[in-house]
Amino acid sequence: MAENSRFVPGPQYDGWLTGVEQISYGGDYNPEQWPEEVWAQDVRLMNEAGVNLVSLGIFSWALLEPREGEFDFAWLDRVIELLHEGGVRILLATPTAAPPAWLYAAHPDARVVDRTGTPMGPGGRGLMAPTAPAYRSAALRITTELAKRYGTHPAVAGWHVHNEYGAPVALDYSVNAQRAFRTWLRERYDSLDSLNAAWGTAFWGQHYADWEHVQVPAAAPEAVNPAQQLDFARFSDAALLACFVAERDAVREHSTAPVTTNFMAASCPATDLFAWGKEVDIVSNDHYLQAADPRGYVGLALAADLTRSVAGGKPWLLLEHSTSAVNWQPRNVAKRPGELARNSFSHLGRGADAIMFFQWRASRSGAEKFHSAMLPHAGTGSRVWREVTELGANLGRLTELSGSRVHADVAMLWDYESFWAQDLEFRPSQGARHRERVDTYYDRLWRDGHTVDLVRPSQDLSGYKLVVAPASYLLTADDAANLTAYVEAGGTLVVSYFSGIVDQNDAVHPGGFMAPLRDALGVWVEEFLPLRENDSLTVAYGAGAAAAGAARLGTTELTGTVWADDLVLAGAEPVGTYADGPKPGGAAITRHRHGAGTGWYVSTSLDVEALAPVMADVYAGAGLAPSGIVEGLETVRRTGEAADYTVAINHTDAAVKLPMDTSATDLLTGDTVSGGADIPAGAVRVLRTTNR
Ligand code: GLA
Repeated sequence: MAENSRFVPGPQYDGWLTGVEQISYGGDYNPEQWPEEVWAQDVRLMNEAGVNLVSLGIFSWALLEPREGEFDFAWLDRVIELLHEGGVRILLATPTAAPPAWLYAAHPDARVVDRTGTPMGPGGRGLMAPTAPAYRSAALRITTELAKRYGTHPAVAGWHVHNEYGAPVALDYSVNAQRAFRTWLRERYDSLDSLNAAWGTAFWGQHYADWEHVQVPAAAPEAVNPAQQLDFARFSDAALLACFVAERDAVREHSTAPVTTNFMAASCPATDLFAWGKEVDIVSNDHYLQAADPRGYVGLALAADLTRSVAGGKPWLLLEHSTSAVNWQPRNVAKRPGELARNSFSHLGRGADAIMFFQWRASRSGAEKFHSAMLPHAGTGSRVWREVTELGANLGRLTELSGSRVHADVAMLWDYESFWAQDLEFRPSQGARHRERVDTYYDRLWRDGHTVDLVRPSQDLSGYKLVVAPASYLLTADDAANLTAYVEAGGTLVVSYFSGIVDQNDAVHPGGFMAPLRDALGVWVEEFLPLRENDSLTVAYGAGAAAAGAARLGTTELTGTVWADDLVLAGAEPVGTYADGPKPGGAAITRHRHGAGTGWYVSTSLDVEALAPVMADVYAGAGLAPSGIVEGLETVRRTGEAADYTVAINHTDAAVKLPMDTSATDLLTGDTVSGGADIPAGAVRVLRTTNR
């Protein structure tokens, strides 16, 4: 079992926000956008809504340091005192995601430069070049001043460093980046010969004879060397992380309150959050629904599971989501009644001990005035306000959940380096999108009621009954050996197409495609056979298809798109066979007994429906019992010292029944529930059962 499955909950558990004993509730608070007389009303309304935590000062640099080296903290002192008197605790921000105009004016060379060489000006927000000494020293100065002034203030529960590293831009091609990239490369490669070998510069005559000739991969007439681009992605991530670490350390000089920064798990691939997760004191995340997707709550669940995984299973802070519509998508669909609660409880069920929003009060001016808020333009007479206060009251009933943990039997591989590499140019098919496969397999697991951890291919997998690898294009030999050992020891592994292809330098593994997984899967790929756009093929799936070319009687026909392989069997049995397509009669889906475990390979793109029979067989083989819940009812369990808490969210338009073996207490109503729990259409219940 994963080591995080049990945890002793209780007030103020170790490593959590200073002085916080309950589920936190609140949002970004930007009082500088309002006249001072509004602030007292804000605090009064926060109390009314059950708000107990705000993120403060995220974009306040220009007001806190109006001229270089001149500080004005008087207004922030007053806001902090008001919040403190009102019992609202503070995540104090370092405002370095919105550098002031004077910094741009004084140091134009510290601007971020895009791939085409265009520098990014002020007037919006975002990082300046993370490697620019002028930006770094100015950011550290304001951070240090804030930490000195407020580091021991009793209202400060923690520090919110910067805002969403990696957004809106993650890659900087400036002269500062150029200099730092060479330094980074010299540390990674002991000699230019090693760099030439790693980058495969013999191809297209790219050999380097002088470090000074090595460039950032700016726009070029043809695709730039993929290994160079992959290293640039690694370097750019490291440059952002160095900014965070420097600010965090400056804060720590003057404060013992925990330091976090808000991630964008699942929507910002530029930062390797497994590395970042080790540097923050508490993991935080921001999540916004994709309004175009009516089932966006599945993507939400993935983001929340990823955040918990990055946190190593510990509780985390949801620092931002929206009460209703955002303002930056093509069509900003308002949340339906109850959706705000359903979204919030899904995060909570998946391990969040803080439910926060962007933002407290809707802005009258600026780029985000049409973004929803806790206190909308319509005021306190509105539906959103009513739902906000109801949620605050409900979270107030859940203090005993704080610190409890989520256990997952299923893991899915999530590897940033693999994603960076697969996103580069010249791949066999533009239709093969890593995120699409991850989302589709995750959706299948979600519909089947399995809670999922997202894991790196290098980590200990022994606690999981099933590991799914939907998109592992880059897989080092060591990582493949780890997966193979997992199967050997009794695990079940499912691998999707275009996996195990290249090493850490984007070089094809010797021995044929997927060679490093050959032992685990009993199959390798002689040739990729991607399909034309809109073409599809048929897979005859089932026991009847076990012998290649067998009659299709007794099998299920599954439709595949995007991809097929010419597979070479090396011990695996084909359980699905191509009935047509580029290789009729060839193996399409294989199963292989290796050691005490089983390796499955799925060589085409099955949609979420077509995956159902395959995954049902996978679960049965892995010893995963069917969840027995209605599709559309989301359930997640948090485990505390003496009780389990089942968070049940009904996403359907009809009442559903959650089967339960024992009686339970509904923590939101206080009712005792027995013989299963009725969950009305669109409703949420939090059910406590004793686990002793
Ligand atoms: C991001 C930012 C916020 C705000 C929201 C709007 O998450 O961190 O400042 O811009 O988006 O959705």
